[in-house]
Amino acid sequence: MNNKLTRFGVAMPEQLLAQFDKISGSHGLPNRSVALRHLVRQYIASSSWQEGAGEVAGSITMLYNHHSNDVINELTAIQHDYGEIILCTTHVHITHETCLECLVVKGAAFKIKALENALNALKGMHSVTAAITGFISD
Ligand code: NI
Repeated sequence: MNNKLTRFGVAMPEQLLAQFDKISGSHGLPNRSVALRHLVRQYIASSSWQEGAGEVAGSITMLYNHHSNDVINELTAIQHDYGEIILCTTHVHITHETCLECLVVKGAAFKIKALENALNALKGMHSVTAAITGFISD
């Protein structure tokens, strides 16, 4: 991957730029260049994810009732089916009944979407949230 920096001019309405500076500063971004690079990376990752194209990385966080039906066995079977894109998992017992489980994923966006759909279809699943934070460019 070529990391050589290129400078370019950007024309933007003053008010929009003022809002951008205020928000990016409040998010800890030190300057416009860094803020813009973050946005562009997020835009590319988000587009890859929405289109189901390219390689992405992120997490899928689930909440489910572990007493419900056969959810534990089915969840394990699905994770074995998608073992090539699941890097690791973390399970936390939130309450007596509810579990939170987080899968760190990396791979083809369409495969991660298929995993998300399979998890959504499980009985006893309360919620499935995919947070795609990056794209793989090399
Ligand atoms: Ni648990």
